Amino acid sequence: MESHKAQAANTKLATWVNEVATLCQPKAIYWCDGSQQEYERLCEELVQAGTFIKLNEALRPGCFLARSDPRDVARVEDRTFICSQRQADAGPTNNWEDPAAMRNRLNGLFKGCMAGRTMYVIPFSMGPLGSDIAQIGVQITDSPYVVVSMRIMARIGSRVLDLLDDNKFIRCLHSIGYPLSGGKQDVPWPCDPENRYIVHFPETLEVSSYGSGYGGNALLGKKCVALRIASVMARDEGWMAEHMMIVGVEDPQGNKTYVAGAFPSACGKTNLAMLIPPKGFEGWKVWTVGDDIAWIKPAADGRLHAINPEAGFFGVAPGTSMDSNPAAMQTMVKNTIFTNVALTDDGDVWWEGMSKDKPAHLIDWRGNDWTPASTTPAAHPNARFTAPAGQCPSIDPEWENPKGVPISAFLFGGRLSTTFPLVYQSRDWAHGVYMGATLGSEATAAADNQAAIRRDPMAMLPFCGYNMGDYWKHWLDMEGKVKNLPKIFRVNWFRKSPNGKWLWPGFGQNMRVLQWVVKRVNGQAPGQETVFGTVPHYEDINWNGLAYDQATFNELMAVDKSNSRREFEDQAKMFNEMGGALPPQLEKIRQEMLASLA
Ligand code: GTP
Ligand code: SPV
Ligand code: MN
Repeated sequence: MESHKAQAANTKLATWVNEVATLCQPKAIYWCDGSQQEYERLCEELVQAGTFIKLNEALRPGCFLARSDPRDVARVEDRTFICSQRQADAGPTNNWEDPAAMRNRLNGLFKGCMAGRTMYVIPFSMGPLGSDIAQIGVQITDSPYVVVSMRIMARIGSRVLDLLDDNKFIRCLHSIGYPLSGGKQDVPWPCDPENRYIVHFPETLEVSSYGSGYGGNALLGKKCVALRIASVMARDEGWMAEHMMIVGVEDPQGNKTYVAGAFPSACGKTNLAMLIPPKGFEGWKVWTVGDDIAWIKPAADGRLHAINPEAGFFGVAPGTSMDSNPAAMQTMVKNTIFTNVALTDDGDVWWEGMSKDKPAHLIDWRGNDWTPASTTPAAHPNARFTAPAGQCPSIDPEWENPKGVPISAFLFGGRLSTTFPLVYQSRDWAHGVYMGATLGSEATAAADNQAAIRRDPMAMLPFCGYNMGDYWKHWLDMEGKVKNLPKIFRVNWFRKSPNGKWLWPGFGQNMRVLQWVVKRVNGQAPGQETVFGTVPHYEDINWNGLAYDQATFNELMAVDKSNSRREFEDQAKMFNEMGGALPPQLEKIRQEMLASLA
């Protein structure tokens, strides 16, 4: 075991590590250095343990497949808690419990929970090392799968320890909750699905996660730190932590405009982040900065600058193909961990939507034989790939710039089959905040106009670490703090015709919308006013290379009065839930929207 200064020294970190070891009773403590050798050794151990299957080295060099316990396949929102001192600070959209009571309960669960296992200490940086937008945390975990995944998703190891401020780092404790005591045998994916807890103590910058090894539940730098804890830090310090992808749109003259976009989970952030401009956009290029999270700070130039706090992509595999997202496919050709996808007979991976032709035989995500005649999917719908961002062919040369990139526009988009036009721009900042706050997405693909919308404000419903009403106020308050704020747009790639067909081709064709957005923020494109906001005329969109007639465009952009009224009225439900935390300005805008329909 390596010796490191913090390990021996009388530091707060060393004290905390010792306390956790006393509670969790691991058989060994290991400080991760973050090296390639360490990564390879742990991957080899995971193969030995049966957690990893090494994929065909000729087809997928350096790649592994993990199959989770079928009960541990996604984030668990009903087991996710924000334990602030006051319940009002967690707000009506978060689960809350008294922090002392929760600590008590967690202490019971964590007691002896690492018996027979190694306890890993992972110092990590969210954001480029040394960036003044970055934050440093330490995750303690008993899962080597988490260690190797964290090495892809964050900057980890000794180089981070050298930067750690012993008085201020985010403490993340994680256990899969499967102690090997009393002769209990290990299993390929140990977990404790009955007792999962994903708990945040925002006031003391702590996260405790128990019972799950999966994604956002276990890679604590991601949703727990970079969104829930960071959103609270951002509120207190005057910046923003958002569930947003970031792209740089370069025109043929070489001018780059950066756009950040919030879309709810599985609503297209990764696709947009890696967009390849279609025919008709020669000389245009879209550069990827991030696909899931943005940390955004006011900078000395009077603008908002954003970094991607992550170092890798934890992307949805099903539906990803050389047609829908070639850049993602090229990112995962090597050094990638696949979780819950299917295994081909030649040791490669497959999932629904990867190719038109289904392989004749596969091992499905549960480890069973699968053929095209099978009635269950080969890959779990939330199967994911974990790949280094640097391998993405469209990665922006600026993606690790510690100062971040200047953001010119924010997009908000949900999955909405009716009512909402392809794109519209807010009248001003407050109206844009209202557009984000009322963001929704369909829970199911309903065919009629009455489709229920799940509100997902700024795509942050599961990720805001404090009261949603206060979060909206924080957004509104940015207006007094930043001279040149981004322009705000709503987009909707998902509108359908009454017969249920997509009205918009989406994917690469979304470039046409991005271009209008870029022109708008640079003052180069006209638009017209509607009830919702400013929209393009048909002729304001570049139609080079796509046959898209004006009649379909009119249907795509139509604003129907009765649907709009129903929408504005429905927004009141969520606003009312916020009680006293609702900024009156947002309710005032809602009333104005309603009145403008008259
Ligand atoms: P998280 O990683 O869960 O935060 O999600 P994400 O926003 O990165 O989601 P992702 O890009 O993986 O979402 C993919 C889903 O959206 C797939 O079902 C895609 O087929 C669909 N999708 C993405 N872009 C478009 C589009 O332009 N049009 C249509 N119709 N579907 C799209
Ligand atoms: C999401 O659910 O928005 C994700 C996947 O990005 S996870 O990291 O598992 O939360
Ligand atoms: Mn996400």
